[in-house]
Amino acid sequence: MPSVQTERSEALAAAAGSVEKRAYVRRVFSEIAPRYDLLNHLLSFSIDKRWRRRAVAALGWDRDPNGIYVDLCAGTLDVANELARNPRFAGTVLGTDFAEPMLRAGREKIASRPVAPIVADALSLPIRGSTASGAIVAFGARNLDDLDAGIAEAHRVLRDGGTFVILEFSTPRLPIIRSLYRFYFHRVLPALGRLVSRHPTAYRYLPLSVDNFPGEQELARRMTQAGFANVRVTRLSFGIAAIHAGERRGAAA
Ligand SMILES: C[S@@+](CC[C@H](N)C(=O)[O-])C[C@H]1O[C@@H](n2cnc3c(N)ncnc32)[C@H](O)[C@@H]1O
Repeated sequence: MPSVQTERSEALAAAAGSVEKRAYVRRVFSEIAPRYDLLNHLLSFSIDKRWRRRAVAALGWDRDPNGIYVDLCAGTLDVANELARNPRFAGTVLGTDFAEPMLRAGREKIASRPVAPIVADALSLPIRGSTASGAIVAFGARNLDDLDAGIAEAHRVLRDGGTFVILEFSTPRLPIIRSLYRFYFHRVLPALGRLVSRHPTAYRYLPLSVDNFPGEQELARRMTQAGFANVRVTRLSFGIAAIHAGERRGAAA
């Protein structure tokens, strides 16, 4: 059994983007899957539901309600469900994640919905190029071991004009909010998360992975570089989270 020290350094190394990140992320999410939803809503005071709703709206799916939409790093399928439950939605959502227990934990939500859960790596999706009208990743981008490869893969599966949305934690600009947020994220959340999930490192990894994720402007730049046009940023809840959205515009620059 690994020591607490080993587990901590593993979380630190993974958050910093080490070569072990992929295996660490896949294992940790598989382990916390049964308690993931409970912890999500508890630790975010359920604001996460509103953020996902805003992110799904940013997809502009009502322009093509019959289209194929890809939920990347779909986890327990909250985003897929948010999109598919709309009465005007007549398309299909492909909910992809490489941690099968996460998809399994969300199965009941999408029982009567047009959602297909697919066990797949976001960096090499089993989806033909130029087929999707939209792609979305909620709280998954910072977990990718190669962010640029993930953005490029979203670009590949999208049709020209298709929208790519990234919902991710960010950093509040107001110093007072930023201090409170950092205290909560680095002190309270890891302790509470550990208590409820009974997982030694998952909720320690979370704030570290946010710290290691590019800032809003840098992320927008990388989306543009990958071939997305009109990349816009919407800050949520004082900048605790942000939505990036852009449209595919042909071959990557
Ligand atoms: C924080 S959860 C987010 C789940 C969900 N999108 C949500 O909004 O709650 C991150 C998910 O990303 C998945 N993930 C991370 N890297 C991945 C990759 N390379 N391929 C597929 N899934 C990945 C994990 O398995 C996990 O389920």
